[in-house]
Amino acid sequence: MLDQLEKLYTNACNEIETATSAPALQDWESRYIGRNGEIKVLLRSVGQLPAEQRAAFGKRANEIRDELTALHSRREELIRQRELAHSFESGEIDVTLPGRPTPMGGIHPANQTLREITEIWADMGFQVFRTREVEDDETNFELLNIPQHHPARDMWDTFHTTTPGVILRTHTSPGQIHAMRHFAPGPIRVILPGMCYRYEQISTRKEIQFNQVEGLAVGTNIRLSDLKGTMTSFLHRMLGEDKKVRFRSSYFPFTEPSMEVDVECIICGGQGCSVCKYSGWLEVAGCGMVHPVVLRNGGYDPATHSGFAFGMGPERITMLKHDIKDIRYFWGNDLRFLEQF
Ligand code: FA5
Repeated sequence: MLDQLEKLYTNACNEIETATSAPALQDWESRYIGRNGEIKVLLRSVGQLPAEQRAAFGKRANEIRDELTALHSRREELIRQRELAHSFESGEIDVTLPGRPTPMGGIHPANQTLREITEIWADMGFQVFRTREVEDDETNFELLNIPQHHPARDMWDTFHTTTPGVILRTHTSPGQIHAMRHFAPGPIRVILPGMCYRYEQISTRKEIQFNQVEGLAVGTNIRLSDLKGTMTSFLHRMLGEDKKVRFRSSYFPFTEPSMEVDVECIICGGQGCSVCKYSGWLEVAGCGMVHPVVLRNGGYDPATHSGFAFGMGPERITMLKHDIKDIRYFWGNDLRFLEQF
């Protein structure tokens, strides 16, 4: 049987030279190395050999099968090259035709806005500081002056994990604590972009997952006028120099005083429309002077240091810029929407 095997090998090597087309090579393959090829047939009858010869026979049969498989691959490539060269020569392929365009991916509209926001703040000396999305309750709330059971917690509906005290951050504000503890007692000028999560009813303006960009400046002489001036400059660059900006008194437990920032409605130019609910103004951010309790929790003495902070939503800003009526488009992954940007 070993002789038969060697003979098979010699025949296969000779015969493959005559296979000059893909179908001929396929015939050769099924005859010798295919599922019912000659090698398989010989291997199936290995039981007829005396026990001491079986191992050597099996080893050689496997070697031959591997060699013939390699031979087949080389031959296949050779035939492919020859057929290609032939089709070039016979003019079957018109190499002067323009190629098919490859579809290109794009930058997600929310990321485009994030990049623009980052660039503008960078020009004003704010560096990016990234912090975690899975937070502890203490940093997300307590250190931000929101104790357990405080009614202000209702402003942030929270996703809890199965580990007690570990949550998905509801805003980027806990990043203020991380940044302060990182930089204290030095000055700070950072923005903290990233994903936030809220257990909310999804609507045209509310998602359960969205980006925020937090901003924080801490120093020895930072005043409310610095916040108003910096924020106004940012919004003018972001949305247009001619846009009116207003600061409205508000409440956040971690800033005092606190404000909401509105921009003249981009869609109707302040005349009143459905997007601005006929008020002529659109809210773009929350902000204020960092609360003394928060400064202390971050490692700064409120007697010598002060700071301002803000938090804005890039998806909402993108909606304003491009007149997008529903926030759900952002994470719907519908190419008809995404390809417009
Ligand atoms: C806050 O989350 C505060 N941490 C902001 C802040 C930071 C105030 C620092 C003062 C100092 P608010 O819940 O309003 O505030 O959210 C801020 C912005 O995030 C909103 O103006 C909006 O643009 C965006 N946002 C909030 N909730 C959602 C949501 N469910 N879907 C999409 N965007 C949202």
